[in-house]
Amino acid sequence: MRMKKLERLAAALPKAELHVHLEGTLEPEMTFHLARKHKTKFRFPNAEALRQAYQFKDLQSFLDLYYEGAGVLRDREDFHVLTMAYLEKAVRDGIWHVEPFFDPQTHTARGVAMKEVVEGIVGALKEGEKRHGVTWRLIPCFLRHLTEAEAMKTFEEMLPFREHFTAVGLDSSEKGNPPAKFERVFAQVRDTGLKVVAHAGEEGPAEWIREALERLQAVRIDHGVRCVEDAELVKELVEKQIPLTTCPLSNVRLCVYSDLGKHPLKQLLEAGVSVTANSDDPPYFGGYLLENWLACSRELQLEERHLVQLAKNSFTGSFLSEKEKAQWITKIDRVVSSLGGGSSS
Ligand code: HPA
Ligand code: ZN
Repeated sequence: MRMKKLERLAAALPKAELHVHLEGTLEPEMTFHLARKHKTKFRFPNAEALRQAYQFKDLQSFLDLYYEGAGVLRDREDFHVLTMAYLEKAVRDGIWHVEPFFDPQTHTARGVAMKEVVEGIVGALKEGEKRHGVTWRLIPCFLRHLTEAEAMKTFEEMLPFREHFTAVGLDSSEKGNPPAKFERVFAQVRDTGLKVVAHAGEEGPAEWIREALERLQAVRIDHGVRCVEDAELVKELVEKQIPLTTCPLSNVRLCVYSDLGKHPLKQLLEAGVSVTANSDDPPYFGGYLLENWLACSRELQLEERHLVQLAKNSFTGSFLSEKEKAQWITKIDRVVSSLGGGSSS
């Protein structure tokens, strides 16, 4: 009974998604469809066999398959179709604002032009906004397993499309690649008025969350779950209201936690950290945003107040204007009262 009520609330609450990689939304069926379209060979015989291979022991074992899968994305239409398919799922989950990542270097390294990638994605985001009213801010990321010089070159290639971007992020293999490796390129990013976000404290230590905040001047941390190992840092995150975009199902599938019951989402919410729950790479990790919320509700015994806070944090942690954020908070409060909310279970 309690879960039914929470499920209704989770679905009804307006939500923003702040941590999803567009390449990571590639469903196996679409991978095969695009492989056929481009007459490329793929080492799995069919979509089901590919899905069976989604068993990971850590971030790197996932990334290897994720980059291989992204190889089927070749032209503007592919990026458009990929982004539209994600937006349809987002609408289904009650998401009204998205801030997706994409990895330009994954495509430019294969000879796909930046223009094809960006215009394919942006065309779909605009169409989604017109058709469904879902607003967006787009975030290209540098691959941290590559060099800073390569990130600089990519940044130059991104500049003609600057108007489409709000922030630049940092993703890929965290181990061995601390934020400080990219200090100079992110200084250039900030000089153009773009904000900085960074994956930190997923597999890397809490210290790298500090490093991303101090040396890259990141305004939002992606994952950041390992902050719980440093009480002073948690205090600072609360004081400064630095948003953390956690991805609970991702953390379990990549063995950061052995089960969802050990995830610090609830602990962080109760400590007053501006934490959100997101999908990361949904088909790879077994669920889109709403499924992440529901799984956490079950396994962490979340209550109504936690879900309402997650919804509010998803907008306050976004790059929307202060006015837009305030409007969403009002809408969330209205939904809660219309469902007869206010109690804690
Ligand atoms: N971490 C780092 N890089 C990524 C991830 C992630 O969870 N997903 C896609 N690229
Ligand atoms: Zn991520």
